[in-house]
Amino acid sequence: MTIWNLGSVNADLVYRLPHLPTAGETLAATSHSKGLGGKGANMSVAAVRADAQVEHIGALGADGDWMRERLLSYGVGVSRLTTIGPTSGHAIIMLDEAGENQIVIYPAANRLIEAESIPKALSAAQPGDIALCQNETNAQVEFLSHAGSAGLRVAYAAAPFDVDSVRAALPFLDILILNAVEAQQLEQAIEEALNTLPVADIVVTLGGEGCRWINRAAVTDLTFPAPRVEVVDTTGAGDTFTGYFLAALDAGETTERALDLAQRAGAVMVTRLGTADVIPTRKEVADFFDPA
Ligand code: RIB
Repeated sequence: MTIWNLGSVNADLVYRLPHLPTAGETLAATSHSKGLGGKGANMSVAAVRADAQVEHIGALGADGDWMRERLLSYGVGVSRLTTIGPTSGHAIIMLDEAGENQIVIYPAANRLIEAESIPKALSAAQPGDIALCQNETNAQVEFLSHAGSAGLRVAYAAAPFDVDSVRAALPFLDILILNAVEAQQLEQAIEEALNTLPVADIVVTLGGEGCRWINRAAVTDLTFPAPRVEVVDTTGAGDTFTGYFLAALDAGETTERALDLAQRAGAVMVTRLGTADVIPTRKEVADFFDPA
């Protein structure tokens, strides 16, 4: 089966800092790097590294050929990644010594996707395939509603959090993935507990504390601990979790096994500095926890 991912592609400009800046403060970075990122691209790469077939839907600017080529070299399908306007999205990622981050994104082409292009982009999708999107592009509702009508299993990662976008997406979702802060923001905004939402499966990532899975049909609300690792950089760990989780579901794994694999992949990812370029392969994840 295939994962169809409507998602952002960013140039990630990463700056390591002694601490995250406060208002009015100027700081000298101790290192700088540029790589492939964007929550969408990270999820596509993660799913491919977990052995899924992925078609990425989105937009780059004229300056983004290197990102298209890099996605392609990683095995992500890019024939639905169009070029719109001069400028691709980018992210400024500030990272402190404990691996925590602050991120500023400039969406540019990521938010110029033509909604009318969505049916064509999904024309080869088959019932049972997975549709995934996040919140760094436009056209999510067109994508989710079209994917749902075509019989795809519809997943949404509610990041970066925006309550109106989540509300608009909710009626179409089979799977909702969000972190603990986003979950709390959503519950406060809608004045309802997560387990009342009309979504078959809700997964809340809890960082080092693991993850929570709410299953509507079984009326279960379970928490799973995460493996303990040394944190270098938390950036992209949630995206890695999501890509791995959906890839495992797509391969027919149970939700419990998919969550276990996703947690291990996310744990390995926080030991690495960078985003899409350093997402671990399935073998690297296995070797990390069971070295020969
Ligand atoms: O989740 C991490 C990602 O957020 C980065 O790759 C950056 O591009 C921003 O989209």
